[in-house]
Amino acid sequence: MTSTTGLIPAPATLRDLPSVGGFVLDESTVIDAGPGTEATARWLRGALGAATGLALPPGAGDDGETVRLRIQPEDAGHLGPEGYKLYVDGDDITLHGGGPAGVFWAAQTLRQLLGPDAFRRAPVAPGRQWLVPGTFVEDTPRFGWRGLMLDVARHFMPKEGVLRYLDLMAAHKLNVFHFHLTDDQGWRIEIKRHPRLTEVGSWRARTKFGHRASPLWDEKPHGGYYTQDDIREIVAYAAERHITVVPEIDLPGHSQAAIAAYPELGNTDVIDTSVLSVWDTWGINPNVLAPTDNTLRFYEGVFEELLELFPSEFIHVGGDECPKDQWRQSPTAQARIRELGLADEDQLQSWFIGHFDQWLTARGRRLIGWDEILEGGLAEGAAVSSWRGYAGGIAAARAGHDVVMCPEQQVYLDHRQAPGEDEPVPIGFVRTLEDVYRFEPVPGELTPEEARHVLGTQANLWTEVMEDHARVDYQAFPRLAAFAEVAWSSLPTGRDRDFADFERRMAAHYGRLDASGVGYRPPAGPRPWQRRPGVLGRPIDGPPPNR
Ligand code: ACM
Repeated sequence: MTSTTGLIPAPATLRDLPSVGGFVLDESTVIDAGPGTEATARWLRGALGAATGLALPPGAGDDGETVRLRIQPEDAGHLGPEGYKLYVDGDDITLHGGGPAGVFWAAQTLRQLLGPDAFRRAPVAPGRQWLVPGTFVEDTPRFGWRGLMLDVARHFMPKEGVLRYLDLMAAHKLNVFHFHLTDDQGWRIEIKRHPRLTEVGSWRARTKFGHRASPLWDEKPHGGYYTQDDIREIVAYAAERHITVVPEIDLPGHSQAAIAAYPELGNTDVIDTSVLSVWDTWGINPNVLAPTDNTLRFYEGVFEELLELFPSEFIHVGGDECPKDQWRQSPTAQARIRELGLADEDQLQSWFIGHFDQWLTARGRRLIGWDEILEGGLAEGAAVSSWRGYAGGIAAARAGHDVVMCPEQQVYLDHRQAPGEDEPVPIGFVRTLEDVYRFEPVPGELTPEEARHVLGTQANLWTEVMEDHARVDYQAFPRLAAFAEVAWSSLPTGRDRDFADFERRMAAHYGRLDASGVGYRPPAGPRPWQRRPGVLGRPIDGPPPNR
C-alpha cells in the first residue's frame, strides 16, 4: 500500500502497475456504461465532471479514451454483488462489478485514485492533468451491513445535510443509513394521518445546552421535520448510492414528543399527559407509551405510511431504555399483563415489540430493535442492534437471531475522541481513532456458525451535544474512516490491524476530507473554533465498562 494512493477503506488487493502506464482523463474521455451500470455512470459523470470540468459523455471510445463500466459475473462474480475489479492502464479504465453495487464501489475507488481534488465541486486548476496511475484492485466487503446511525431527533439535520452525509457514507463504502427519526425531543417525519406528530412534536421551546448535568439552556425554539417528499428524495438519493435507509420509530420508550402531540398515547391513568411538551433535556424519560389497543392502532398507522416510503427489509422499532415505572403504577397496564398472562412489565415490553414483529413480518418486512428487546423474550425473526456492549449480540446470535454490532464502548461517535479538557463537549468514554480502528465486530466467543448471524456493524451518532453539522462532522471524522475500514476490509491473519499503515493512508485521506469540506478533528486536536469553552460536560475517565 502506498501512502500517496492511501485508499480507505483498504481494498483486499491493490497492485501498482507502473509498467502499463497510466490513463489520462481529458476532453476525449467517454464513459461506456453497460446494462445495469447507468446510475453509476451518471454519478461518475456528476462527481468527476464537476471536479475536473470535463464532459465525460456517454459513448464507446478508442484506446486511451474509455472508462468502461460492466456488471461482469464471469470476472468479478465470485467477489459477490458488492465486489469489484478495477483495471487502469494506458488504454482504458475498466470497472467490473459482481453486481451494480460492485461497479459503484469501484467508481468510489477510482475517485480516490484521482487524488483529493477529485472531491471538489468545481475545478481548482483548470487545464491540469488528471492522471490515474496504472493500477489493479480486487475488492469485496467483509460485511453486508456497514452502517451509520444518525439521530435527527435530538437535533434536526435539514435535508441538505442528510444528503451530504449520504455522499460521505458512499465515499467510505458504507451502505446502511439508520435514520433515527423520533425521540422524546422531536418527531421528524410527516405522518399524514397524524398531523400533530409534526405540528406539535417537531418543535421544542428550548434545549439543554451541553451534557444533561449542565445547568445551561439554549433559550430558543428548535425543530424541523422531513415531508414525505423529502423522505422519498432521501431514500432515492441513498439508493442511487447503494445505501439502504432503515428508518427507526422508537417505541415504547423515547416517545415523549409523540405523547406531547397525542396525550392519549401516554399512561393517562398515572399522570396528566396533557401537560407534557416535547422534552427539552437529555436522559432516560419516564413518560412511555401506554400498552393499549389505541396505541397499537395509532402506530400501525404510522408504520403503514412508513412502509410506503421505505423499501428496506428491516424496520427499526427502537425498544431501548423504556422505564417500566408507569406500567407498574397503571391499572390499565396491569390489567393488560393479567389478561395476556404475562409475568411482568418486561414481558409487556416483549408483547409490545412482538406485536409489531408479527405486523411487519405479515407485510414482508423484518423487525430490528436495540438489545433491550431481548429482555422478556425476543420475538421470532427479530434482529438486534447490540449497543450495550457485545453481550446482547452474543446472546441473540446464539439464539439464532441476526445481529448488528454497535457497542457504545467502541463505536458511539458522540463520545469524545481524546482525553483532556480540549474536547468540545467532553461526554462519554474516550474512544480514539486507534480505538475505533481496533474495534472487532465479531466476538471471539462465537462459533463460526453463530458468527454468521452478525450481519455487520454500525457506528452511532447521537446528537444531544451536536447542534449543527459542524459538530456532527467533528465527532464523526476521522473516526468514521477508521470504522469504514473495520466494516469493509477483511481482518488480517492474526486479527491484528496495522494502525501505522492506516495512519499513513489517512495522510492522503485528510486531503480528501478537506476537499469535501468535512470539519474533522485534526490529529493535533481541535482547531480554535472547534473548542467550545464554557459548555459544561461530565467527563468519564478510565476505560469504558464492558457490559
Ligand atoms: C441507545 O443508545 N439508547 C440505543
